[in-house]
Amino acid sequence: MKTVLEPFRIKAVEPFRITTEAERTGLLAEAHHNLFRLRAEDVMIDLLTDSGTGAMSAQQWAAIMTGDESYAGSKSFYELEHVVRELTGYRHVFPVHQGRAAERILFGCAVLPGQAVPNNAHFDTTRANVEYLGAAAVDFVAPQARDLRDAAAWKGDLDVARLAAWLDAQPPGTVPLGLLTITNNRVGGQPVSMQNLRDVSALYRRHGIPFFLDAARFAENAWWIHRLDPEWRDVPLPRIARAMFDLADGCMISAKKDGLVNIGGLLCLNDDALAAKVRNLLILTEGFPTYGGLAGRDLAALAQGLREVLDPDYLHYREASAHYLGEHLDRLGVPVVRPFGLHAVYVDARAMLPQIAPHELPGQALACELYLQGGIRSVEIGTLMFGRTEHGRPVVAEHDLVRLCLPRRVYTQSHVDWVVESFAEVHARRAGLRGLRIVEEAPFLRAFTARLQPVAAPHPALV
Ligand code: F0G
Repeated sequence: MKTVLEPFRIKAVEPFRITTEAERTGLLAEAHHNLFRLRAEDVMIDLLTDSGTGAMSAQQWAAIMTGDESYAGSKSFYELEHVVRELTGYRHVFPVHQGRAAERILFGCAVLPGQAVPNNAHFDTTRANVEYLGAAAVDFVAPQARDLRDAAAWKGDLDVARLAAWLDAQPPGTVPLGLLTITNNRVGGQPVSMQNLRDVSALYRRHGIPFFLDAARFAENAWWIHRLDPEWRDVPLPRIARAMFDLADGCMISAKKDGLVNIGGLLCLNDDALAAKVRNLLILTEGFPTYGGLAGRDLAALAQGLREVLDPDYLHYREASAHYLGEHLDRLGVPVVRPFGLHAVYVDARAMLPQIAPHELPGQALACELYLQGGIRSVEIGTLMFGRTEHGRPVVAEHDLVRLCLPRRVYTQSHVDWVVESFAEVHARRAGLRGLRIVEEAPFLRAFTARLQPVAAPHPALV
């Protein structure tokens, strides 16, 4: 059989309103051509993010009802702690309200101004939390990640040779911890190989630097290792995950991804002295250490989500969904980034819309046109998000991509077919698309709130 089945059936549905293109034209203008400004109820297919947008299983909803809401010593905490220790092997397990809380607490306890934190590539909030403390966040993207079309595996790897040279040049005591993000979201949800995990671990160890994983998508990374690395082909996924965690001294997890919950996070580590500091800071800002800013029912749902996420049938469906979308877009001639991540397919908008100069935001122009065509919300990962205005002049990003993120267990194949058909329409009239200019922007993280306007001689649908 060629078809990869969604390994679930649907018990509860969430209807959405079918809108018309005319309605969407008005809504987009009201949102100043910024899709973050849309109301979610005006979106039909929301591919903005895979974070906290997944569907919980019946077993998770059942766990919600049995969650223990005790302030201290909740039964749900001990259940979660047991599951997380089995999964990761780490001694200390702290629930937090989401990934960035783990970042703030870990860095708040370990990082000092003037220090530097290396990573394969920091996610935005991770970078911001390092920089907020007056430290530098330094990325070591592997050279194979630079070519968007090359399907070479392991584009998420950290460039070990460059990191080694960099570490040798750092004065002692200036690197408080080292990170590795699995999968590597900033370069397109690309996987990190077990060999790279081993090499990075050995390098940090050699320098006596504590090693933490940013493991938001640990299950998807484990799946890639199972699929692509012959050494791990016949190894059960929980053992692969454990082998990854064993190489590090701790991890931060945004559970809104592979925790299969709508809110939650984890900070796990082995070092007792660091754990004592973490506990105190956590009490100051998140709550008591046995709930960490979450309700007891959230802890219970997370424990169950972590039991479900390494199911090979689930991860196979996840791979098949991304593959189906990516391959169909490729067949239309849409330039897609390869290989496809499990959590998202990325489109190279700069290549698709060569008539739009990067400073006129081809990624945002494509994202807006997809909303007009199909009520689809995607997200620009390019000059709007990472560029800036310096002395009135635009500084553009390295790439202009559009990310089509796949929420977990939410959309069916006909939803994806709708996305593909919308792309076919937009692709057919791509030569007529025009760019956008920013009319109002915040001094940082401008993508979330900027107001935009189509440039002169716009495509009629963009007015
Ligand atoms: N680390 C990675 C690799 C992430 O992708 C994210 C979130 C975080 C940390 C922060 O976690 O949102 O729970 O505070 N990524 C989301 C995304 C927002 O859309 O890719 P959080």
